[in-house]
Amino acid sequence: MTAIRLLNEQPTLAALPDLCEVLADCVEGGASLGFMSPYRPDDAIPFWQGVAAAVGRGEVLLVVAEDGEGRVLGTVQVGFATKPNQPHRGDLMKLLVHRRARGLGLSRLLMEAAEEAAAEAGRTLLVLDTATGEPAERIYERFGWSRTGVIPNYALFPDGRYCDTTIFYKEIGRKARDPQKTSVAGSYPPAIPEPHAVMEGPVFRPTNWGFPCRLLPGCAVPQPFSSSPARLPDPSCRLPPPT
Ligand SMILES: CC(C)(COP(=O)(O)OP(=O)(O)OC[C@H]1O[C@@H](n2cnc3c(N)ncnc32)[C@H](O)[C@@H]1OP(=O)(O)O)[C@@H](O)C(=O)NCCC(=O)NCCS
Repeated sequence: MTAIRLLNEQPTLAALPDLCEVLADCVEGGASLGFMSPYRPDDAIPFWQGVAAAVGRGEVLLVVAEDGEGRVLGTVQVGFATKPNQPHRGDLMKLLVHRRARGLGLSRLLMEAAEEAAAEAGRTLLVLDTATGEPAERIYERFGWSRTGVIPNYALFPDGRYCDTTIFYKEIGRKARDPQKTSVAGSYPPAIPEPHAVMEGPVFRPTNWGFPCRLLPGCAVPQPFSSSPARLPDPSCRLPPPT
């Protein structure tokens, strides 16, 4: 049975051999992923150590698909944009499925989990680039991503040939909003209107506050998501005063 999991830093380090194996297999299979052939599992160690550190800092979400024995067969990441003017954006990166596990639907499961986790972390827009004409390009369209355009000769395949890249985006969770348009009487953050928010089980419904909210256990009022998953909302349940 396949399990889809979100990994913290230590489990990422524990899964390093499997992650290295998956990345090396994809590069040796001809995917344009930033690395050149020959590429052995050991070559991937610094890359995954960097990912583990970024996960630990709350900058990256790492999702893996594991088989019944806990071996990683596939993975995908969402990197959180860190610029102050892009708190709502994330970069979808490194969707990888080992060649022995392809065609089983793992990429769909990984993408669904990554989009859901990014939305829960308050991201509303994801962006990715992928080698033009490769299988993954068709897959993203099937998963509801919108194609924006092609950049010629953007990168190299592992064998040294040039490859074009196609840029995609997807709005997830609730739609990104223009702060000016959502502000009340020109102020931002907006004044808080009633009603606040409605929570249905683990699903967060949008409010008209201008940012995603959720109701914490024991709280009477919704709390804004922090832009980083490492900094969850203040459990004191106090709302910022309306401006
Ligand atoms: C792209 C990749 C992740 C797909 O993984 P996968 O687990 O085999 O894909 P899935 O089995 O989940 O298939 C997803 C969908 O794409 C379709 N699909 C799978 N392989 C396909 C192919 N070669 N051509 C066209 N469609 C394909 C499936 O039918 C499925 O559609 P459905 O869910 O509507 O039935 C995998 O081929 C891979 O790791 N490639 C190398 C790395 C890479 O290029 N990653 C992208 C980096 S941006």
